[in-house]
Amino acid sequence: MRELLDYRSEFPILEHTTYLINHSLGAMPRAAEERVADYARTWRERGIRAWGEGWWDLPLTVGDQVGRIIGAPAGTTAMHQNVAIAEAIVLSCFEPTPARNRVVYERGNFPSVRYLYQAQRDVEVVVCENDGELVEAIDERTLLVPISHVLFKSGEIQDVGRIVERAHEVGAHVVLDAYQSVGIVPLDVTALSVDFAVGGSVKWLCGGPGNGWLYVRPDLAERLEPTFTGWQAHEAPFAFEEEMRYASGAARFLTGTPNVPALYAGTAGYDLIEEIGIERIRVNSLRQTDLLIELADAAGYGIASPRDPARRGGTVTVHLEEFPAVHKELSERQILCDFRPGAGIRIGPHYFTSDDELRHVVDQIGDIVDTGAYHRHLRVVARH
Ligand SMILES: Cc1ncc(COP(=O)(O)O)c(C=O)c1O
Repeated sequence: MRELLDYRSEFPILEHTTYLINHSLGAMPRAAEERVADYARTWRERGIRAWGEGWWDLPLTVGDQVGRIIGAPAGTTAMHQNVAIAEAIVLSCFEPTPARNRVVYERGNFPSVRYLYQAQRDVEVVVCENDGELVEAIDERTLLVPISHVLFKSGEIQDVGRIVERAHEVGAHVVLDAYQSVGIVPLDVTALSVDFAVGGSVKWLCGGPGNGWLYVRPDLAERLEPTFTGWQAHEAPFAFEEEMRYASGAARFLTGTPNVPALYAGTAGYDLIEEIGIERIRVNSLRQTDLLIELADAAGYGIASPRDPARRGGTVTVHLEEFPAVHKELSERQILCDFRPGAGIRIGPHYFTSDDELRHVVDQIGDIVDTGAYHRHLRVVARH
């Protein structure tokens, strides 16, 4: 078994950058570049034959790989452009009625999700402040419950089991957005009994943009007919029939021509996650986020993300005075992390991060504060 630190050589950016922004854009695996070149070579050499030699099926073959990472059986997960599209496909399977037209969700949902449901003229959105309030708000009028596994702003893990139990008691369906958990926090969509799960690959999966995914509970899938659809969802797409006949399994939720180059790029990151195993990644993540919290406490900074390991995702948010300017100075020192207004600097180590890098970022924050190096950025960040 390879040591986690051995994987550093798989990520070229680590040679010159302290990369602690994996909750936003995961580092690129070296192999992703080769796979994109492979895509171009296939297009050049095989031309149209490439469709029959794997391209057409990529949303499903790659979806099965993501499925293995999220505890989904083969044939239940397909690749899509992004979460906005995946959630729109889910929504298109339902017809709100006056008796059941509510979408109950948490304020902490990602904007793609919030905006989509807000924009629907025939649903009533009920916004809740936390997962406890959400459970209370679900009733017989609830159609859908779109939730996040790990909230993007606070990095807090949500009580998915309780929400699913309550939703199913009243006949509502849960759509789990696992973008901020997949690849860093164990997720088993089958054990959780969620009806739908969505996510993407830009973050902890290190799979790059254009690789969203959608899981649909297999027994439910066969009963649904999405109205947001396309020819890839047809049982016999190349028969070009005049009427829709839905394919079975994950294919029935597909739309049009797939995003082939993105799908080539994505598997490099998934291969590494599968090789290492998510349980091992989580143990290391909890150890490293513990270390970060300890270092930040010792330096007298606040922690704006959960301290409780059971509620902690992969990111630690460190709060201190003038953190936007401190963050700007960190990036000039080749330390990449980000910040959220009102919260603090977000630090997201991954399995290839060394403990020394974590000590380095906290030391550098201390140096920036002590020397006043952040002063020169105060006016610039105030303008943004
Ligand atoms: C929880 C969560 N959902 C969704 C997204 C992205 O949505 P989309 O794939 O529509 O860009 C993000 C971040 O980019 C996120 O953190």
